[in-house]
Amino acid sequence: MRLIILGPPGAGKGTQADFIVKKYKIPHISTGDILRENIKDETDLGKKAKDYMDKGSLVPDELVIALVQERITREDCKEGFLLDGFPRTTAQAVALDAELRKLGISLDRAINIMVDPELLIERAVGRRVCKTCGATYHVTFNPPEEEGKCDIDHTTLIQRDDDTEETVKNRIQVYTNQTSPLIDYYKAQGLLLNVNGAQEIDAVFNDIVAGLEQ
Ligand code: AP5
Ligand code: MG
Ligand code: ZN
Repeated sequence: MRLIILGPPGAGKGTQADFIVKKYKIPHISTGDILRENIKDETDLGKKAKDYMDKGSLVPDELVIALVQERITREDCKEGFLLDGFPRTTAQAVALDAELRKLGISLDRAINIMVDPELLIERAVGRRVCKTCGATYHVTFNPPEEEGKCDIDHTTLIQRDDDTEETVKNRIQVYTNQTSPLIDYYKAQGLLLNVNGAQEIDAVFNDIVAGLEQ
């Protein structure tokens, strides 16, 4: 299964992606996670991406397109993949289509998680992440068993640098201007699967599976 997951910042893309990749046994490719990894490791890509990400702006298309082109040709993507946070501009979507065509494959669905802007800030600002295993929590909506510690490995949870209220507001604006046109782009291709993201985490996942298996 070859999938992309769309939605505004804090919609729950990463949360749902974790469930989807477990069920369908495909790799989870999050450009945000890959870029944060590069920043941590101080690679050339990380150095180029950092200022954009800290402000909540998009990293230039050519950098992320090259990253994804390389990633989806790896062995573990043979049976499928889930792209989370890519494409994010029309140029990225067109480049992805061209790359898939070259590889002789195509997307099965574009999952669109819909959440009203009022809910997004609270979700993003309350998010806590584990830098050891990547698990995501929320102080209110999905708290860990022990406050501030990862359930899986007990690492102290941290807040993402771009999860301040001001940066989240900018990210939502960037999403509205540059990414939301992709909803129509994939609708026109007959690939769009709209899901109500304003429900409990399990209910959102049930709707995604029902939509994929229709
Ligand atoms: P990225 O990491 O992709 O961030 P984003 O799109 O802003 O999305 P988030 O990761 O913030 O939200 P999410 O939808 O994954 O929500 P989550 O599941 O964590 O990108 C970061 C930056 O990298 C960008 O700003 C840009 O600079 C750069 N970048 C990345 N890709 C790029 C690209 N293709 N081109 C250019 N630049 C790129 O959930 C959020 C919180 O809500 C969590 O705490 C969670 O527990 C909670 N939650 C989840 N679901 C629910 C629910 N149903 N009910 C209640 N709470 C919930
Ligand atoms: Mg995410
Ligand atoms: Zn962990």
